[in-house]
Amino acid sequence: MKIREQLREAAQLINSDEGQLASEVLMRHILRVDRTGLYLAMEEEISPEQEAAFWGLVKRLKGGEALAYIIGHKEFYGVNFLVTPDTLIPRPETELVVDKVIELAKSYPEPYIADIGTGSGAIAISLALALPQAKIIATDISSQALMVADKNSQQYHTEDRVTLLEGDLLSPLPGPVDIIVANLPYVKSSEIPPESCEPKIALDGGEDGLGLIGRLVKESHGLFRDSIVIEIGQGQQAQIEEMLTESFPGKPAQFYRDLNGIERLAVLSI
Ligand SMILES: C[S@@+](CC[C@H](N)C(=O)[O-])C[C@H]1O[C@@H](n2cnc3c(N)ncnc32)[C@H](O)[C@@H]1O
Repeated sequence: MKIREQLREAAQLINSDEGQLASEVLMRHILRVDRTGLYLAMEEEISPEQEAAFWGLVKRLKGGEALAYIIGHKEFYGVNFLVTPDTLIPRPETELVVDKVIELAKSYPEPYIADIGTGSGAIAISLALALPQAKIIATDISSQALMVADKNSQQYHTEDRVTLLEGDLLSPLPGPVDIIVANLPYVKSSEIPPESCEPKIALDGGEDGLGLIGRLVKESHGLFRDSIVIEIGQGQQAQIEEMLTESFPGKPAQFYRDLNGIERLAVLSI
C-alpha cells in the first residue's frame, strides 16, 4: 500500500481532529524524514517492517499514549526536547513564560535565573539558548525528570550554564537570583483527567491547585532581586494576586493572557 493510503487509513483509525497530522508525524518518525521528505514520498510503498512499525505506533496512539511520548520528543521554543513519561510534555502556552523572562533579563549583562520545576528543562534550556550570557539554576523534585533535563541540556550544549539541582521548590538554591521563573503543577487534584499519561507529580497542585504556587510565593522572599514569573491556570488570577500582594505588599503583580485569552502568567517585580 502507498504511504498516502496508509496515512488515510491511519487517520481514520485514530479518528480525532488531529488524526491526519498525528499519522503523518508517526510516519515521519518511522521513515526518519522531514515534512518535505514525507510529501515527496507519498506515492511510494514502504517495507513490510516499516509498515508493521508504523501500525504499531498508530495502535499505541489509539490506545491513549501521548504522541510526544511515542516519538520521544516535543518542539518547544523552536527546538526539539526529549520527553519521557517522567516529564510533562511542554505546552505552547509556556512559551509566553520564556518570552517574558527574556524581556526582563535583557537589561542584565549576565542574568542569573532560577527555573523551579524544570521537568524536561524546556524553560531553562530555551532561556540558556536565547540568552548566551545567562546562568540558570533549574530545580525539580523528580530525579527522573532531571535525568531527562540533563540529556536535553547536553544535546544543546548548555550544561556549563544550566545547573540542575534536585529538591523541593527553592530549597536547592545557593542564594538569591535575578529572576525566578516557575511552571509548577497547578491542576486541582480532582480535575486531573483520568486518561492523562503525564506524571501526577507534574500536574497535581493539590485540592485547590494552588498549594505549590502558594508555597513558592511565600518562600521566594529575599530569593529574587528583580522579578518572579509564574505560569498560572485558568481562573487562578484572583487568588494568586492575593497571595502575591500578601507576600509583597505595595508591589503590584501584572497578569498576561495566552493566545486563547486565558490569564496565564503572573509577574511581580520588586
Ligand atoms: C507542570 S510541570 C512543568 C515542567 C516544565 N517546567 C515545563 O514547563 O514543561 C511541573 C514540574 O514541577 C515539578 N515539581 C512538582 N513538585 C515540585 C516541588 N515541590 N519542587 C520542585 N519541583 C516540583 C514536577 O516534577 C514537574 O517536573
